[in-house]
Amino acid sequence: MSSSTAAHCPAWSIPGYLEVRDGHLSINEVDAIDLVKQFQSPLFVFSESRIRENINRLKRAANVVDRPIKFCYASKANSNMSILKAVLDSGIDCEVNSGGELFKALRIGFKPDQIIFNGTSKSDEELDEAVRAQIYSINVDSIFEIGLVQQAVARLRLKDENIPPARITLRLVPEIGTRSHLGLQTALLTSKFGISSSEVLAAFRRGLQNPALVNICGIHIHVGSQTPDVEPFAEAFRSMWEHLVTIHQETGHTLEHINLGGGIPVNYLRDRSQADQLPEHERDMLGAELEPEDVLKEALRVARESARAANAEHLLDQVSILLEPGRSIIADAGLVLTTVNNIKTRPETGDVWLLTDAGYNIMLSMNNYKWYYHLISASRAGEAYARDYKVAGPLCDSGDVYFDIEREGRLPDYRRLPADVTPGEVLALLNCGAYSLAQMFHYNGRPLPAAVLVTLDGTPKLIRRRDTYDDLIANDVWE
Ligand SMILES: Cc1ncc(COP(=O)(O)O)c(C=O)c1O
Repeated sequence: MSSSTAAHCPAWSIPGYLEVRDGHLSINEVDAIDLVKQFQSPLFVFSESRIRENINRLKRAANVVDRPIKFCYASKANSNMSILKAVLDSGIDCEVNSGGELFKALRIGFKPDQIIFNGTSKSDEELDEAVRAQIYSINVDSIFEIGLVQQAVARLRLKDENIPPARITLRLVPEIGTRSHLGLQTALLTSKFGISSSEVLAAFRRGLQNPALVNICGIHIHVGSQTPDVEPFAEAFRSMWEHLVTIHQETGHTLEHINLGGGIPVNYLRDRSQADQLPEHERDMLGAELEPEDVLKEALRVARESARAANAEHLLDQVSILLEPGRSIIADAGLVLTTVNNIKTRPETGDVWLLTDAGYNIMLSMNNYKWYYHLISASRAGEAYARDYKVAGPLCDSGDVYFDIEREGRLPDYRRLPADVTPGEVLALLNCGAYSLAQMFHYNGRPLPAAVLVTLDGTPKLIRRRDTYDDLIANDVWE
């Protein structure tokens, strides 16, 4: 821990977490430049206290509504084992999307009744693993998949007659749009997810046919990631609620929970100095400030209204609510430190190019979705941002740039940094904790970076070792 004090507070700073100390970026009072010296560059750095704060914010939101809330961290956002442990220790549950994530969640210590399993295309092996583990819920994505779960239970009972019915939740897709990227919207009929509203009753009838095999305990929707407005959540909740009432009326079956998915947004534009270069809809989406408390209050308000109208308040008073937050827990708790390796000017354009060691192979969203991660100098974090640079990563690919190569303006053309950046300077891409580490790949034979977690007591702890060259060939077979 440093004994220095924080200097002035740039717009991107977060008191006690992201600060300027001795001119450097400091993360929970740990000097970013010292971290690069110790763990090399590029480097992911996470803050356990920020993870805690983000989870506490969700828990506070749960206190303002009158239904019990179960939070299941969407582990796809970041399933590093130490990150999962930090989430587990903070007392919430876990959502997984594959047998691999299920394995990780169980291995780190989540109890089966803390785990829910989503996915559009689960294999028989994955279903067997989920049924055998007796997890809280398998969220089924089609009528066909209900049959697959039934078969899995029957199959496993041949070996162990004590296997109980699998708890399942039906994932629905009621055509609700959001103002996020199309690739991040998941409640549209054109998306690959879920069961259409027109098939819900048939799905329930199928699931209820054989209660010895499956127990339908809930209904699920996820409107998409980085949803900037409250309305899609409220509309989704109302839709799920109305289905729940119809199902009760038509079949007599009472559901235990409504799962409202993830999607609570993160403000990627706390520092808005470059925001005016982004199109308005992009700005609204990336700079969203949406309190989970407001989402829950509004969702329950519309449900209560509809319950009163349908004379079904007793049903509402029996349901619990599940949420699957990923991004809102981990995105702003992580950043990437990257070093400028090379510099050049283009006399024809006057551009100064900074070539870093962090490419899209460690931050796929910057390429996939042209996702904006605010860039600062970690070496000179307190200095005025005086010059515009073209910034690019190290990959042999024209698309490995920190601007929108397709010229659609989804990222600023230039990044503003202090004057006279020279090779060796350490930069930081902020808010990179979600959908980054979990999506890294070895393109161009690049060993994947290390990751460090600054623990609650302020100690930087290695949570992912840097790859060696041997890791690049570990799974190749050539003899
Ligand atoms: C089913 C489901 N639940 C939860 C999430 C997590 O969303 P977010 O990270 O935006 O909270 C996702 C991601 O898109 C998802 O597909």
